[in-house]
Amino acid sequence: MAQLWGGRFTKETDKLVYAFNASISYDKKFYRQDIEGSIAHVGMLEKQGILTKDEAERIKDGLKGILEDVESGKLKITEEYEDIHSFVEANLIDRVGDAGKKLHTGRSRNDQVALDMRLYTRQEIKETDDLLKALLETLLRMMEEHTMTIMPGFTHLQKAQPITLAHHLGAYFEMFKRDRMRLKDIYERMNFCPLGSGALAGTTFPLDREYTAKLLNFYGPTLNSMDGVSDRDYLIEFLSALSTVMMHLSRFSEEIIIWNSNEYQFVELDDAYSTGSSIMPQKKNPDIAELVRGKTGRVYGALTSLLTTMKGIPLAYNKDMQEDKELTFDAIDTVKGCLALFEGMISTMRFKKDVMEKSASHGFTNATDAADYLVNRGVAFRDAHGIIGSIVLHCIEKGIAIDDLSIEEFKEFSDAFESDIYEAISMETCVNKRLTIGAPGKEAMEYVIEKEKEYLNTQPEIGACV
Ligand code: ARG
Repeated sequence: MAQLWGGRFTKETDKLVYAFNASISYDKKFYRQDIEGSIAHVGMLEKQGILTKDEAERIKDGLKGILEDVESGKLKITEEYEDIHSFVEANLIDRVGDAGKKLHTGRSRNDQVALDMRLYTRQEIKETDDLLKALLETLLRMMEEHTMTIMPGFTHLQKAQPITLAHHLGAYFEMFKRDRMRLKDIYERMNFCPLGSGALAGTTFPLDREYTAKLLNFYGPTLNSMDGVSDRDYLIEFLSALSTVMMHLSRFSEEIIIWNSNEYQFVELDDAYSTGSSIMPQKKNPDIAELVRGKTGRVYGALTSLLTTMKGIPLAYNKDMQEDKELTFDAIDTVKGCLALFEGMISTMRFKKDVMEKSASHGFTNATDAADYLVNRGVAFRDAHGIIGSIVLHCIEKGIAIDDLSIEEFKEFSDAFESDIYEAISMETCVNKRLTIGAPGKEAMEYVIEKEKEYLNTQPEIGACV
């Protein structure tokens, strides 16, 4: 057991208590951020004359040595230490002796851990955003390719009106674009440095918090030391944004599972992204999509868990907050993994255009357009709706599509029908006449694709303006 405290105690910590309290098994994940934060702290202490130049140099060299040795595998982070902070400090003292004992001047593990977690999360927000951007680029490429791939659009999972695959994918483009906006917002609010908050009430040492914040690329220091050590709002916001990403991925996964089913056969997943059955030789299962859908629950769980943990905690730091880590790390790793796999899955998926188009033309998806045709010939919409309803019923009984009726048959339902009805209700016409902004018509879609392209090319990286 290697701990940073003990002077006040007369007994060894109970072994079970030690294990229960320790966090090194997971906070070792941010050893890099812990060292980076310590280097900045020491630089500031030196500038303020709290450490001599020589002491500061020795400490910084020691910290850099620890970082190198951990990265190269020479130094293992072992569980004999309570947490990553103890590990770094103990190793530093081993390496540089007495100077190392001054590292923690004007600092508490409370503001130290608050800093480490922020530095870690800040980086993860950027990495999540990069993955979302890559997914958007893939989606846009697919949209450009499929502006004429006709498929049924659904409401209530019933065929409704014809759309194109580009249009369908474009809906997800918008969702993932908003997910990126959320990440950017969160970054803007969370990019403030808590170091210097001390245990809860700042410190009597003349720290330059502005300087530390600048060294670590924060917008500035946090403005209340109690809040600085106990704010976990940004994690809750990040988990909420991650939950929304998963909700979007899960909806998309669900559609892919449906499209890939034997009944639909709109798509065929690439062999590299599907799995077989140990017993049924014919099976090719969409496990990746199912797992993404399934893991959504896990990320929602992290959000609910942290909200619940935080709700009863009085100011300022309390050990409950240590619980923020495992679940946040797990949620981040889950979402990043899902985003990468999902992008691979959709970019290798094969669309069966003929099946999709046939499904649209045999699902009465042009019924609204047939009614609109009558309206354009002077029939009141409600009457037109009734006439087309009767036609649909007739076609269902005969097992045919509306377009399969002869003009004579059309005329039996209404005199307003002329031979241009076929052109008016062809799938191409139904789609391409829908030209309002955001609609599936080819020209409308091309306009949107240009806008999305512009967005992808002009959107600065998160934190780029620091
Ligand atoms: N492992 C702790 C955490 O994650 C670090 C802070 C410890 N502070 C304390 N007063 N015990 O929250």
